[in-house]
Amino acid sequence: MDMDFFTLVQTRRTVRAFRPDSPPREAIEQIIAAASWAPSPHGRQPWRFVVVEAPERKLALANAMAEAWRYHLALDGLDPSTIEYRLCRSRERVVTAPVIIIPCLYLNDLDRYPDPERQAAETTMAIQSLGCAVQNMLLAAFALDLAAGWMCAPLFAPAAARAALGLAEDLHPHALIPIGYLAQEPKRRPRRPLSDLIVQWQ
Ligand SMILES: Cc1cc2nc3c(=O)[nH]c(=O)nc-3n(C[C@H](O)[C@H](O)[C@H](O)COP(=O)(O)O)c2cc1C
Repeated sequence: MDMDFFTLVQTRRTVRAFRPDSPPREAIEQIIAAASWAPSPHGRQPWRFVVVEAPERKLALANAMAEAWRYHLALDGLDPSTIEYRLCRSRERVVTAPVIIIPCLYLNDLDRYPDPERQAAETTMAIQSLGCAVQNMLLAAFALDLAAGWMCAPLFAPAAARAALGLAEDLHPHALIPIGYLAQEPKRRPRRPLSDLIVQWQ
């Protein structure tokens, strides 16, 4: 990698189409090692990672996510042909991703409080930390000349994702991170100017 940090941050982008070849195992391990250096509440590292590479596992995950989404799209009142089109595209994105990492929230090591407010704050901290871990993974992937994306499907259907992958009950799947080699440059969304983002500085 011969890119400075700020260039890396700006050129990282959500990739949705990958070449069929798989990245080497060492690269995936490096990406997960980068996640482990993320900040976390009390240093407890409340995340675990599931790597999905076998075609039959990807298919099971894709089908489970699609079926859960079918239910939600029908609830939204979409017509059957639009639903089928969207499900087909979503399934394709999962099965054609060379490697998928599923970051899971793991709450067992967090502090316990007698009141629900502090317990909820503790869980929120863990989720914030999971986001940091995922960002480290995305940046690491791009630093290794790989490409990566982010799909939220498991967050909306955690039970379906857990069942498809045979995950333990204490693993809460939060996202689906496809990783591979770039096939198609995505369109980027413009960023808000700093004057919009900084709401107070005094
Ligand atoms: C929590 C979260 C969930 C996301 N879920 C999806 C998703 O389900 N499908 C998708 O195509 N992109 C998803 N994205 C990617 C965003 O669409 C993307 O980050 C945004 O459009 C900005 O583009 P960029 O990442 O290329 O800068 C998600 C991003 C985040 C942070």
